[in-house]
Amino acid sequence: MKVNNIHGGDTDVVSRLYGIDKADIKNFSGNVNPLGLPQSVRDAIINNPDVITGYPDVSYVELRAAIAEYTGTDSENIIVGNGSTELISGFIKTVSPKKAVIVSPAYSEYQREIELTGGSVVLFELEESEDFKLNTDKLKKALTSDIDLLVICNPNNPTGSYVSEEQASEILTHCEQNGIYTMIDETYIEFADEDVKISAVPLADKFKKLFITRGTSKFFACPGLRLGYGICSDKDIISKINTKKDPWSVNSFAELCGKTMFTDTEFEKKTKAFITGERNKIKTELSKWKNIKLYDTQSNFFLFKLLRDDITSSQIFENLIRDGLLVRDASDFPYLGESFIRFCILLPEDNSRLINKLYNIIEK
Ligand SMILES: Cc1ncc(COP(=O)(O)O)c(C=O)c1O
Repeated sequence: MKVNNIHGGDTDVVSRLYGIDKADIKNFSGNVNPLGLPQSVRDAIINNPDVITGYPDVSYVELRAAIAEYTGTDSENIIVGNGSTELISGFIKTVSPKKAVIVSPAYSEYQREIELTGGSVVLFELEESEDFKLNTDKLKKALTSDIDLLVICNPNNPTGSYVSEEQASEILTHCEQNGIYTMIDETYIEFADEDVKISAVPLADKFKKLFITRGTSKFFACPGLRLGYGICSDKDIISKINTKKDPWSVNSFAELCGKTMFTDTEFEKKTKAFITGERNKIKTELSKWKNIKLYDTQSNFFLFKLLRDDITSSQIFENLIRDGLLVRDASDFPYLGESFIRFCILLPEDNSRLINKLYNIIEK
């Protein structure tokens, strides 16, 4: 199996393939908050093991209320799922698009799910020459009358580029007028700087064909919990997705942890301050390098392009993994070639280790 065909954070596969102990891998590929699980969530699990002796609330009333408060929307607009993955899949199955546009390069699950549902996919290219920033006018032209779904990841995985609320509003107006559903994946939104307004949640009431998906795996460092949520003001869509889903797909631990994490404002503040600080530090350092182009990011990961043609991203991957440093060789994403690498922000000492090693490989 080629390593870049597996999900970013799959340290089990890497450990088996390379014979490295999982504990010795520094995962710069999984995009998970390095501060780890909030202490409040850890305490909730330890103090309440008996929650699993009962079923979770099948309607998740309290969990949805906590998410509503956290995101600033109405709890009627919220649906919860087994990771954002279940909601991406549930929404796509519900809309069952014949032809969808995915703003690309992007996370691969959207395309897989649309094609599994029998739809066809048109990729809309984020241009390298435009630093992967979305060109609204060009996108609107690509949204022809035969398109019934648009998918945007914001901030985008793997480029880190983003769409502002204003830009999203313009795109959504166009989509609404043309009967096109829009799914915006905001998995990485909480890592963005406080002063950039990029979430589409404030637009949810106005645009009925908008479905926003969000997760807890990355920001709250709990991919194993499998808790995600969707936001949509069309009650009919929410109810159709719920009908297709198995009941209780969010288990009692996830229900409990969700109610806890969404009220942990201290953890939220600490993570945002930490990520902003490290992101600025790494950006300042890597922007000085001559042999890479670093792309601006509003997420907890960076994408860069090697400007040397005597070395490839897969060679760098191989070189780093021997030291237990797992980065994402991004060459399998559409439109990115053999020279793109993505890595996420970990703790300062780990980031320094990676940067020193990269410097020795690329700049020296
Ligand atoms: C953009 C994006 N969306 C969704 C997911 C899946 O997240 P979850 O764990 O919430 O299912 C990922 C995981 O890497 C991702 O990068």
